[in-house]
Formats: sequence, structure tokens, C-alpha cells
Amino acid sequence: MEGQYSDKVMEHFRNPHNVGEIPDADGIGNVGNAICGDIMRLYLKVDENEVITDAKFKTMGCGAAIATSSMVTELVKGKTVSEALKISNHAVAEALGGLPKIKMHCSVLAEEALRSAINDYLAKKQK
Ligand code: FES
Repeated sequence: MEGQYSDKVMEHFRNPHNVGEIPDADGIGNVGNAICGDIMRLYLKVDENEVITDAKFKTMGCGAAIATSSMVTELVKGKTVSEALKISNHAVAEALGGLPKIKMHCSVLAEEALRSAINDYLAKKQK
């Protein structure tokens, strides 16, 4: 089973980065996949220059969902909100050295969680 996963995926699955919550998060994204039942929550901290300074996640899901959550939190840190919006699930999978085809939907969950957290941030900012 492990053989179909890259070393990077296994590394992030065994030792995920940025697990947890940000209590005073500026944006929170909640997403789920109705078919597999996996859920992902992503927290973002954004400064006054719209730079993402921190990101954390809580994922109840498969190994690939955990690895992609971990990678997406790493990828967004230091990026502006508009740069982060351009991060696709393919970019996340690529940064992990690829994912098996049947696991690509897990990276879609990570992209959706990021979008959802950014939309939450933008909605809060407008108020
Ligand atoms: Fe559901 Fe991976 S199997 S996100």
C-alpha cells in the first residue's frame, strides 16, 4: 500500500506540520467530501498587508488528506491572500511529489479548505 505514495507524502502523513487550531483565526475553512466522509478544517492568520502569517489544520481523514493539509499550510505561509487563491490542488499534489490518481480528490479537499478559509477571511473583512 505504502509503495504507491511518495516519500514526501509518507513524511507529511507520519509527521504532519501545523496540526491544531488558531483560536483568533482571521479565516476558517470547513469542508468535507460526501463520498469518503473525510473532513478538513483550515485556520488562517492574515496580517494588515494581507500576508498569511500562520496556518493550521485539523483533518479527520485518510493519509493523503492529512498529507495535503499539511502541505497546503506550508505552502500558504508568507503568501498574500491573492497568491494563496492561485494554489491549485495540483500544485499541492506536486509539492508532495505526486499522488496516486485515486487519491487526487484528497488534494481537492485541501484546495477547497484553503478557498473556504480565504472566503471566510474576505467576508469578515468586509464587515
Ligand atoms: Fe477522502 Fe482522501 S479518501 S480525502
